[in-house]
Amino acid sequence: MVQYKATMVERITLPSRADRERALERAGYNVFNLDADDVFIDLLTDSGTGTMSNEQWAALIRGDESYAGSSSFARLEDAVSDVMGFPHVVPAHQGRGAENVLYGTLLGEGDVALNNTHFDTTRAHVANQGADPVDCPVPEAAEPGSAGDFKGNFSLENGWEVVEEVGADRIPVVIQTITNNSAAGQPVSVENTRRVAEFAAEIDATFVIDACRFAENAYFVTEREAEFVEASVTAVAREQLGYADALVMSGKKDGLSNIGGFVATDDPSLADACKQRTILYEGFPTYGGMTGRDMEALAVGLREAVEREYVSDRINQIRTLADLLEDRDVPVYTPTGGHAVYLDADACFPHLPAGEFPGQALVCELYREGGVRGVELGSFAFPDTDRPELVRLAVPRRTYHREHFEHVADTAAAVLERADSVTGLSIRSEPEIPELRHFSAELEPVSA
Ligand code: F0G
Repeated sequence: MVQYKATMVERITLPSRADRERALERAGYNVFNLDADDVFIDLLTDSGTGTMSNEQWAALIRGDESYAGSSSFARLEDAVSDVMGFPHVVPAHQGRGAENVLYGTLLGEGDVALNNTHFDTTRAHVANQGADPVDCPVPEAAEPGSAGDFKGNFSLENGWEVVEEVGADRIPVVIQTITNNSAAGQPVSVENTRRVAEFAAEIDATFVIDACRFAENAYFVTEREAEFVEASVTAVAREQLGYADALVMSGKKDGLSNIGGFVATDDPSLADACKQRTILYEGFPTYGGMTGRDMEALAVGLREAVEREYVSDRINQIRTLADLLEDRDVPVYTPTGGHAVYLDADACFPHLPAGEFPGQALVCELYREGGVRGVELGSFAFPDTDRPELVRLAVPRRTYHREHFEHVADTAAAVLERADSVTGLSIRSEPEIPELRHFSAELEPVSA
């Protein structure tokens, strides 16, 4: 049962089919280029798009906008220490700012970074340092229908293979992303985190946890990992994060905020090095690109994110959307992950070859059919990687309800009914950085 009520609402409208057709064409068949007002149900991302609580709104008023020594930063530090267990916090404007600060400190030309799966901005920041991002997912992560409680895990076998190939000296950083966003938001077990921490220590690498969705991950652990079935979400989060040398965090996810991020660590010299870089790129180390009020909202949001009532409702919302889709025979990635339902575009459009971006075609059809905006996380978003053609329907926190999800499921079912007539897409123009392709490339139907 949902443990909150809405006390503020925002109007949304479904544009006419003709308007949606025009908007799609204007956007170059890339939904990042749509005006948000032209979107009915926006499942592009769960990042910064959720609903803040009245406690968070109240905290905004307390924002201390001092350049140095802001008391809002002190409250953020307290929240990070209480919820995540790390004493040193280096703030940044959002997750990728924190990635730039941390990976710019730890990585250099010719290095290799290992990750269960790099998210797109992580991959780009590692590459931007002249380093090579190498994914180490477990094999079942790429199988949309296979069973598995922790398909987000880091494959140590894979990790050791890379060590043998390139040598431990070239791997200063090992990252674990919890939940594993690019692998369908699948959770990572605490046992896997322990083993990856040992692996990183053995090769003398800094062990970083990308903690964007740490609370959702902790909730899955309480459901699925025998050792933790009696534990609180807070206790699991503290235990799991505690194995890391450093965290990189986007407050826009499990910080339940619209903006913000940070690096956290228990290593004072790493914190000092990061602070120098945050001054260069983000701001003075007691605000790092956030306003005082942003830091207040984030401090409250972090505490709310580990409340069992909140996070169980959150995970159940995702399951509801997946169930409604499955009831209508829409192929979804199972088991369902933490923040999104991932559709299997290969199974939706078996007639489309990989080179014609079946995932992006599905994204466009969902918008055309019902004004629903999702995002492709397949060969369009990740060029030159071997991965399933997935479309992510990310659910903003505390925002949509069952009726919205029914509309999404009906929309997907209507697209599938006319699947045979859906054509593929080809790229018309793309940006220079391949890791960032899906944000701004423009496409056209292959038949055009
Ligand atoms: N790491 C992961 C695992 C992420 O999912 C994201 C963002 C980032 C880092 C970067 O954080 O957006 O605050 O700069 N993911 C969003 C998404 C954008 O839609 O999945 P950011």
